[in-house]
Amino acid sequence: MQIPQDLIETAALKLKSIQSEAEFFQLRAQFLGKKSFIASSFSKLRDLKSEEKVIAAKELNILKDDLTKLFETALAEMENKSNLVKLDVTLPADPYNLGSEHPITKISKKIIKYFAPLNYQIFSGNEIETDFYNFEALNFPENHPARQMHDTFYLNSKSSSDYLLRTHTSNTQIHAMLSEDLPLYMLSPGRVFRCDSDTTHLPMFTQIEGLVVDEGVTFGDLKGILIDFLEDFFNEKMDVRFRPSYFPFTEPSAEVDIKFGNKGWLEILGCGMVHPNVLKGCNIDTKKFRGFAFGMGIERLAMLYYGVTDIREFYSSNLDFLNQFPS
Ligand code: PHE
Repeated sequence: MQIPQDLIETAALKLKSIQSEAEFFQLRAQFLGKKSFIASSFSKLRDLKSEEKVIAAKELNILKDDLTKLFETALAEMENKSNLVKLDVTLPADPYNLGSEHPITKISKKIIKYFAPLNYQIFSGNEIETDFYNFEALNFPENHPARQMHDTFYLNSKSSSDYLLRTHTSNTQIHAMLSEDLPLYMLSPGRVFRCDSDTTHLPMFTQIEGLVVDEGVTFGDLKGILIDFLEDFFNEKMDVRFRPSYFPFTEPSAEVDIKFGNKGWLEILGCGMVHPNVLKGCNIDTKKFRGFAFGMGIERLAMLYYGVTDIREFYSSNLDFLNQFPS
């Protein structure tokens, strides 16, 4: 078989004079494509005698490798050359939208920003929880009516292993007290779930839990920090009211209302001194330590802060709504 020795030189010479990408690909097809000399020579190999075949195949392979390398190098060079640019930089760019933080994330961060400098550690909690952490360790006795008020989503039949979607972030109180050293200052934001839905309630919403366990803490400390937090949050002096209430895990307990212009008093959080049963259940010496806890609904605060009237807007994925909260 006759193999022209100047094939590489010819290809190299022709490559030098190409003006466009299209010409390059044409040339490459001519030398390496299906109808090229190389391709047809390979198919003719089968007609040769075996010794000749071995020699010719070897030569053809070397030639093919050299040509391939030549075209690869030329392609790389061409891509770097400005006179063969394929990108028209004068075309207008595709419009693209930057996303922004969800308003609920913004409000969570705003709350954390107040408490973090006071040394409250941020805890993440479990959304799937056992009855023990969501109720029992929080002093909700079995069959206590307060359990019914929580409209719990049970994940399996209540009698078996009792997995549920947590109904409040107060489960994190128990995890923190059982795992951390005292004194304890913690804040825990997260999703909670209750079987409830209307303009002011959702089956999934967000709470932020606060817990302090230390020597000598009082209800006065709790009141002080919550009033200061609320005034910092809304950036104005607020009318704040602590209304006696009931939670199984705090005693005394209160709900906190703030007066909002013509809307009157609005409830925004629950709080109280940690019930001694809860502390004892977590092996805490109640002669030495006391605690206070609070839990607030983040959507509720976000609605007041941004003037949103329908809680469902937060989860509608409606860009016209979300674009009102740019970064
Ligand atoms: N977990 C309570 C609720 O969801 C709020 C709360 C938290 C009350 C901490 C007291 C102390 O309603």
